[in-house]
Formats: sequence, C-alpha cells, structure tokens
Amino acid sequence: MRTATARAHPNIALVKYWGKADEELILPVAGSMSMTLDAFATTTTVTLDPGAESDVFVLNGSPATGTALARTTRFLDHVRELAGSSARARVDSVNEAPTAAGLASSASGFAALALAASRAFGLELDERALSRLARRGSGSACRSVVDRYAVWHAGTDDATSYAEPIEAPDLRLVIVTVDGAQKAVSSREGMRRTAATSPFYDAWISSTARTLEDMVRACAAGDLEQIGGITESHALRMHAVIASSEPPVRYLAPASVAVFDAAAALRAEGVFAHATADAGPNVCVLTTPGEAERVAAAVSPHGRVRIVGPGPGAHLVDEPVAAAAAEEVAR
Ligand code: PMV
Repeated sequence: MRTATARAHPNIALVKYWGKADEELILPVAGSMSMTLDAFATTTTVTLDPGAESDVFVLNGSPATGTALARTTRFLDHVRELAGSSARARVDSVNEAPTAAGLASSASGFAALALAASRAFGLELDERALSRLARRGSGSACRSVVDRYAVWHAGTDDATSYAEPIEAPDLRLVIVTVDGAQKAVSSREGMRRTAATSPFYDAWISSTARTLEDMVRACAAGDLEQIGGITESHALRMHAVIASSEPPVRYLAPASVAVFDAAAALRAEGVFAHATADAGPNVCVLTTPGEAERVAAAVSPHGRVRIVGPGPGAHLVDEPVAAAAAEEVAR
C-alpha cells in the first residue's frame, strides 16, 4: 500500500497576493512575499486505495463532504494526471490552527497535501515543482512549501509561477485574533469581485509588482524600516482596493483598526511594529524577536495574542495522521 505523510504551516504575506490572471491554473496578477510560520501546522497522510471508487477526505477526525471534498478530489485528479494513475486515495488531515484564529488553513493544507499526495503516487518533485503543484490547490499554498521567507513569482504560465526561498532578517509576527468578526467573503469571491468592479484594480496590479521589487531589495539589505513600512502600506492598499469593489467588501473590524493604531503608537515610542491583515479581521504585527513581548502586551486589549516566527516549509514525517487524529478526537 502506498502511503506518505507530510506537514506544512500557514504563511502570512508581507506583500499580498490579491487577484488571479488565470483562475484554472491559479496564476496571480502580481508576485507576493511571505513568512512561513512556526505554528498551526497541518499534517496530512495520503494512502492510495486502488479498489475504491472515490476519494475520502477526513479532516480532524470527521469525513469531509461538499466543497471541501470536491476541492480535494479536484486536486488529487491533477496529481493522478501527473502520475499517470487512476487510483483513488484516502486523505487524513489534522489541522492544529484553532478555527477562531482565522488563519486560512488552505495554504498549510494544500502544501501538506501536495507533498504527501505526490509521494504516495510515486512522484519525486523538487521544491519548485512541488510549489507549482500546491499552487493548484490554493494560490498562497505555493509559498508554504518554502522554509521561512518565500517569494512567489507571478510568472506567465504553469511552469513559471512558483515560490522560492529568499533571505530576510529574523522577524516575529504577533497574531491578534480580534472579536466581533463578521462572516468574511471568501478570498476567491473577493478577488473576483475586485477584479470585475474596482476602478483601482489596474493601479493595484502595477504598484504591487514595484512593491515586491522594493521588498526583495529591502530583505537582501536587511533594511528593517523598509520591510516594516512596505508590509503595512501594502496591506492597507490591498484592503483599499477590496473596499473599492462593488458591492464593497470590508474585512477589517473596528478592533482590527485599533490594532493598526496600536502599532502606530508603538512606532511613536521607537518600537518596530507594523501591522498587516489578510481577508478577515485578524491582524498580525510584524516586529523583532527582542520587541515581540512588548508588542504582544500592547495589543493584547484588542484580542487573543500569539507570537510566531519563521518556520519550516512542507516536509515529510514518519508518523501517519491516523493516530494523531484519534488523539485529537479523544481530547
Ligand atoms: O490563496 P488564497 O486564495 O487563500 O488567498 C490568499 C489571499 C491573502 O491571504 C489575503 C493574501 C496572501 O497573499 O496570502
């Protein structure tokens, strides 16, 4: 029986991905840059079941149905095509991120699935090919394949759109899970709406390409002030272009804005603190290892806080998920 188990972590973009040039291949309109986290892993075991008629996907001990199962099967279809196989598979996945943390699990999920499935189906993919494969599940997943800091090159086709590691200073993110969250519009729907209706979309695309160049240069130079400044302004630009859609989408809640204000107040006191937020109300504050505790204390009135650092890319592990999933359920 062919089986493989892999582990991957979520990532937070410091230069954001928002908008697809190709929905089928998941090619972005511009490149992006992220930190892979050292927390909230997804561990996934894929086991081939040649006798089965359909794939099975068990997430945190419960069989998935509907969209979650359909997305997994569509992804496995792509792996089957690459491997020249028609075998169905059982996917067991455990996601350590608390649901309330609002950290999109699709990046860690598809990065772990890409590695476990490719091995179970007998494929030996290098990091670039694995990143391209993960991208087909969820765009940002291509960055979770990579250790620590990643740049996703937008590319122009399947072969040229992938993530690779870049050097950057050792940084921390203080994740603030804020209260009062409304149900978010999915990133897929939000991106479509922005592309179709925002009068600022072209400016977002062209400016993001330049922002990424500036960020890569700042990382290479170890220029913290540039890295922090770009992180916060690019996040706010993304939320601005999203808010300019019709009908408008607003992901930030009052408590999210309060965290941006807290970061500004910290900067006024000479602390390195720059806020960013994805397609939801939770905010991450970028800081240094030495200042992380102070930042965490300052933002703690606005939500639950957790300090995370740069973590490993997708990697194989020995212990299959089944045992871990049972523990999870028993807890
Ligand atoms: O990969 P998706 O479809 O989950 O989109 C991610 C979009 C953002 O998290 C808002 C930005 C990013 O670059 O991760």
